[in-house]
Amino acid sequence: MPPVWDILIARTLEEWAVEAATSVCDIGRQAVQSSGRFLFALAGGTTPERLYRTLASPAFTDRFDWSTTTFFFGDERCVPPDHPDSNYGLARRSLFTPLAIAPTQICRMPGEAADPENAARDYAQQLRAASRTPASTWPRLDLILLGMGEDGHTASLFPGTTPSQNNRQLVTVTQSPKGIATRLTITLGVINQASVVLFLVTGSQKAPIVKRVLEPATEADRRLPSASVKPENGRLIWLLDQPAAAMLTARR
Ligand code: 6PG
Repeated sequence: MPPVWDILIARTLEEWAVEAATSVCDIGRQAVQSSGRFLFALAGGTTPERLYRTLASPAFTDRFDWSTTTFFFGDERCVPPDHPDSNYGLARRSLFTPLAIAPTQICRMPGEAADPENAARDYAQQLRAASRTPASTWPRLDLILLGMGEDGHTASLFPGTTPSQNNRQLVTVTQSPKGIATRLTITLGVINQASVVLFLVTGSQKAPIVKRVLEPATEADRRLPSASVKPENGRLIWLLDQPAAAMLTARR
């Protein structure tokens, strides 16, 4: 079944954050109603911090009961958890600590591992175990948050190096052309099995790549990692602010 696409454009960053937090709580409630739990993968980078702080704000703290949520990470830089570039570190400061999330609810990617390939294999096993997925099938997470870089990468899947969807790996090791080089990342196979994928993109610097991904003009545009996110039986939501959406032509 083709994915259901929604492109939502917020007038301000405040509106964007409230819309994102409301969507996360709504999706979480639906997941808990249907399965008794919420399997939720966080995005990396800097954009999600505004969402995390909104979820932890007084306006949202009683909007959702986080006690049946298991938190995963879409990717991690290969640094210790207390490193300023750690995706886990950002989530801990802005979400887990303010919401008093129990460590047993957090499935952290071990960026500090001496052997990233081994860490990727271990995380894949944790992903299967926590989502109670048999070895022969893909884990299906309820919600995966994703950001997008100006080159069209998402999670830590970079142009030109993205393992193809038919790669059976759940988690892999990649090299980033910028910043912390070695990364752990879930693969497109996991992303495209999610019930909901929510892209969080803000800022005028992202407008050109948003245009390329959402209104592709070339085969290269269509092959970008972010353009390869097409949930097979799920919803794909792009939540943009107006500056990031400024180059889109179709009225929304
Ligand atoms: C990472 C992310 C990456 C990020 C984009 C956008 O670990 O860097 O997973 O995919 O989401 O690079 O980053 P910003 O939100 O900082 O623009």
